[in-house]
Amino acid sequence: MPNFKTLNDIDVTERRVLVRADLNVPMSDGQVTDNSRLSSLVPTLKELVDRRAKICVLSHLGRPGGKVVRDLSLKPVSLALSECLGQPVSFASDCIGSEAKSIVSELDEGEIVVLENLRFYPEEEDNDINFARSLAKHGDLYVNDAFSVSHRAHASTAAIANLLPSAAGRLMELELDSLTNAFMDPKRPLIAIIGGSKISTKIDLLVSLSQKVDSLIIGGGMANTFLNATGVSVGKSLCESDMAATARKIMEAARDNECNIVLPIDAVVSKKLETGSLAQTVDINEIPQDKMVLDVGPKSLMVMSKIIRGGKTVIWNGPIGAFEIKPFDHGTGVLSKLTGDLSIKGNICSIAGGGDTVAALNQSGVTDLFSYVSFAGGAFLEWLEGKTLPGVEVLTR
Ligand code: 3PG
Repeated sequence: MPNFKTLNDIDVTERRVLVRADLNVPMSDGQVTDNSRLSSLVPTLKELVDRRAKICVLSHLGRPGGKVVRDLSLKPVSLALSECLGQPVSFASDCIGSEAKSIVSELDEGEIVVLENLRFYPEEEDNDINFARSLAKHGDLYVNDAFSVSHRAHASTAAIANLLPSAAGRLMELELDSLTNAFMDPKRPLIAIIGGSKISTKIDLLVSLSQKVDSLIIGGGMANTFLNATGVSVGKSLCESDMAATARKIMEAARDNECNIVLPIDAVVSKKLETGSLAQTVDINEIPQDKMVLDVGPKSLMVMSKIIRGGKTVIWNGPIGAFEIKPFDHGTGVLSKLTGDLSIKGNICSIAGGGDTVAALNQSGVTDLFSYVSFAGGAFLEWLEGKTLPGVEVLTR
């Protein structure tokens, strides 16, 4: 784990603590539709309450582009956070300026205020030092509990950490501990399961993994691009044929690094991506011209399962089929249940992350069986790619 302070190292009693949280939660009609991210903040916030800190929560919601967008107000999120915590949470309708200043200055020990969406100001995403100074005035200490935004060099994740004594919150600690243990010094064989629709969004990830893991299982739409690059005809499937050369390079790099790339050997195909549409299982070399691949087939699942069973560490990002629509959720369900079961038995350590991945694991009801599931999307990917995350780096100085 990188060397930085945690809540163990700072005295927060009666002090104003600025907590950078990730309250970027899914919303519909002004209501929070999934409060998992809020629940994950409870350990840090409860501890600060118990230790009699005065707590000021900073966050963004969505991408308002540096202007006020009423639908992206954090007010309803502050109410949902209050329910999660079981205590009142007040709200300031601006993150800087006189109202925020006076609400924060009136906080009592153990009280919490959420400030309005930081991204209503363009200076937040510009990592503007003066904006960071205005935020820093609200606190005596800074705690970053938002690993999932730490791949952004923004005023509230980067610049501010240079202005106040800083520490990682409990969620940040847990994310970094879990990811570091699983990936930096993993028990081998180390296996990555990578799915999702396009390789163009995950090239850096695939290159990096091909140098580190023992087996790289590829599913989802991106498998079609790899298959196409080896001369397989994929019919009407989602396929980035312009990425064929890149796919071949990744496969060569894997070979050079003795990483076993595992592609589907059979597939479930259909003419339409619709619930209950007629599905057919075919050998990978027999994909009909008028059909598309929507899931991996049973023979592929046997091969992939055997590899997972023989592994010691499994890293998962991206569904391996069109899991939102039955029956194309089967492959993701089978492999995620197997990985979850092996984790619960203590046979493997499993780490999953990314928005679609968490949704797929939730759908299969196996999220709790995994060793660790990260709520981070982009930050999880960048971390796996081996990139330095500015919000983490600044805490280590
Ligand atoms: C996320 O949901 O991944 C984080 O909140 C980061 O959001 P962003 O991609 O808009 O920076």
